[in-house]
Amino acid sequence: LKAKSILSKDFRIGRASDRLFGSFVEHMGSVVYNGIYEPDHEAADEDGFRKDVLELVRELKLSVVRYPGGNFSSGYNWEDGVGPKERRPVKLDLAWRQVEPNSFGLDEFMRWTGKVGADAIMTVNLGTRGIDEARNLLEYCNFPGGSQYSDLRRSHGVRDPYKIKTWCLGNELDGEWQIARKTADEYGRLACETAKAMKWVDPDIELVAVGSSARHMPTFPEWDRTVLMHTYEHVEQLSLHHYIGKRENDTPTFLAMPLEMEQQIKDVIATCDYVQSVKRSSKRMKLSFDEWNVWREPDVPYTPWQTGCPYDWVKFHMEDALVFGSALLSILRHADRIDIACQSLLVNTIPMILTNKGGAAWRNPTFYPFLHASRYGRGEVLRLETESPKYDTKLYTDVAKVDSVAVWNEEKGELTVFAVNRSEESIAYELDIRDFGNVSFAEHLVMNHERLDAVNTADNQGEVRPRAGGTTTLNGGRAESVLPPYSWNVVRFN
Ligand code: AHR
Repeated sequence: LKAKSILSKDFRIGRASDRLFGSFVEHMGSVVYNGIYEPDHEAADEDGFRKDVLELVRELKLSVVRYPGGNFSSGYNWEDGVGPKERRPVKLDLAWRQVEPNSFGLDEFMRWTGKVGADAIMTVNLGTRGIDEARNLLEYCNFPGGSQYSDLRRSHGVRDPYKIKTWCLGNELDGEWQIARKTADEYGRLACETAKAMKWVDPDIELVAVGSSARHMPTFPEWDRTVLMHTYEHVEQLSLHHYIGKRENDTPTFLAMPLEMEQQIKDVIATCDYVQSVKRSSKRMKLSFDEWNVWREPDVPYTPWQTGCPYDWVKFHMEDALVFGSALLSILRHADRIDIACQSLLVNTIPMILTNKGGAAWRNPTFYPFLHASRYGRGEVLRLETESPKYDTKLYTDVAKVDSVAVWNEEKGELTVFAVNRSEESIAYELDIRDFGNVSFAEHLVMNHERLDAVNTADNQGEVRPRAGGTTTLNGGRAESVLPPYSWNVVRFN
């Protein structure tokens, strides 16, 4: 099989914002407790953070981490998680039916992001709470001092404000499962008034309004339109979420499913632009893809009313990593409109990093496409002219067997092509890069496995991992890469 792409510096989609390489930490299952925070673990540091996890997280060079939920945020009282630990209350979290000890809260999270080197994105509770809580929390975080909540922060030993820039106005409030679900009008009004109050406290923040939780929601995209009609002037981004789970027990269908995610992106952009027209606004709404991932049935049964119980603790398969890679490519292809993207979730719940309580921490296969995109995907995303063989499945037609994106980092003089081979055959992929002058071939990373259900375990952490040494030749501005069957590829030139 053969495929071909023509690349040009002039075919630019947009610059990939650094914030496309973000993740998400929610008080859910063992993401926080027995995940990033395990004071009794031998690798715990002075704050109780697992150093082995910190090291893996730092490798990913996350730009942003969203916190504290998710569904959790719609019932959370942030005040329970600050101040002396012995005075913090133990609460019942209704989102995940778990016992929340509150020994990890806002100040611990901020210390942790400092160690990771990422910026925090904070979600306020617009489920059980509202404007008052949001403005107080913002005052605690961002106001320098001399007021009730800023002084409370200082009394907790944090002299300087955190200056958290990005705030989500609630989470998935269109969903039946959400604590204190709302109609689009109820939510839109609340989000608008909360936004006004928050920007009066700190005009430098930016706000994300809650868009539809999924494309299959019956209220999609009407929810988004209504919410934007209320909030357009007051927010900078609209959120979208997408989880890709295997359907039809059929690999070709599964590999094509990111096309639905891409359609959702297009639908949300169209809805934003429709409201922009209605409002005669010069402002172009950006998107915050603040939860995205593949999804697979958990390995471990969930027992409610525990702390740090694995929920959706999943060892991803090789084929999940291919779908994950394609999902990442669909985000990059819309770099002109998507400003923030958070892989969901970072540790232990459909994660990039797995841990055993008291034991090892290791990389799920999805860790690697993210790592590669984070390392080499920062730059101008190029629109490719691609010819690829296609296939049909029960659910999709005309699916390109090669899914690819190119990123040109002008400052570093680096050109990177990311490509997923969705087929069971090897594909010779020609890249016409004559427009890039005399760049040389640097490396071709490949991740594949003879078994699509191969996983990484604590005892065999390197079963699924990339290797250098993929086959690429470059002659006269034309490169030819061999994309092995069912593979993730990163072809780099500089
Ligand atoms: O898996 C994470 C959960 O998924 C988040 O809490 C919620 O926003 C989404 O439904």
